[in-house]
Amino acid sequence: MTIRQFKKEDEGSFLHCVKDGWNERGVYDAVDYCLIDPYWYVDNVLYNPDYIVLVALDVTGDVVGYMVGRKTLDIMKIVMLFVLPEYRRQGIGKALKVMLAKFAGDIGCEKIVAYNRFDNDISLKLNQNLGWSIKPIGDDHYRTELILRKGTL
Ligand SMILES: CC(C)(COP(=O)(O)OP(=O)(O)OC[C@H]1O[C@@H](n2cnc3c(N)ncnc32)[C@H](O)[C@@H]1OP(=O)(O)O)[C@@H](O)C(=O)NCCC(=O)NCCS
Repeated sequence: MTIRQFKKEDEGSFLHCVKDGWNERGVYDAVDYCLIDPYWYVDNVLYNPDYIVLVALDVTGDVVGYMVGRKTLDIMKIVMLFVLPEYRRQGIGKALKVMLAKFAGDIGCEKIVAYNRFDNDISLKLNQNLGWSIKPIGDDHYRTELILRKGTL
């Protein structure tokens, strides 16, 4: 398994991977549908320097998972994290998250944040395992964050 930044040559299999996420859309009914629309990624994300796109590639070079972050001032916000169902539970989601956090620190972000639903048990467990702080927002969502550098916060 290779995890690295998205390159133009990944576009085709990246879009296939996003489409598979669309098929699992029940998971995302509280989020923006644009996050599972392949064309939204092409038009707005993949070639936009405000976003960081990491991909996980299998041995054939196909994208089997991805993670998207957006930097605003000194905060890296996680926009999306997805691993194809048949590749789950192999540490890919964790590896993508760890790499994005490292990346964010390297480019000067003070913290990395994500928003999730409380009923997404897997995401909650993943965040807890990685030591991210978890703060409830309303009844059904939580915000999780990791401070990357000591500084202004
Ligand atoms: C969330 C998601 C990205 C995790 O990807 P993954 O590659 O399977 O995750 P990992 O293998 O790195 O698992 C990391 C940890 O998450 C937890 N976890 C993962 N799958 C789990 C499962 N089926 N049941 C319970 N805990 C689970 C475990 O704590 C696991 O660590 P462990 O294997 O050492 O116990 C994946 O399940 C997914 O794409 N889900 C649909 C999209 C989604 O919910 N995205 C996140 C919100 S935007």
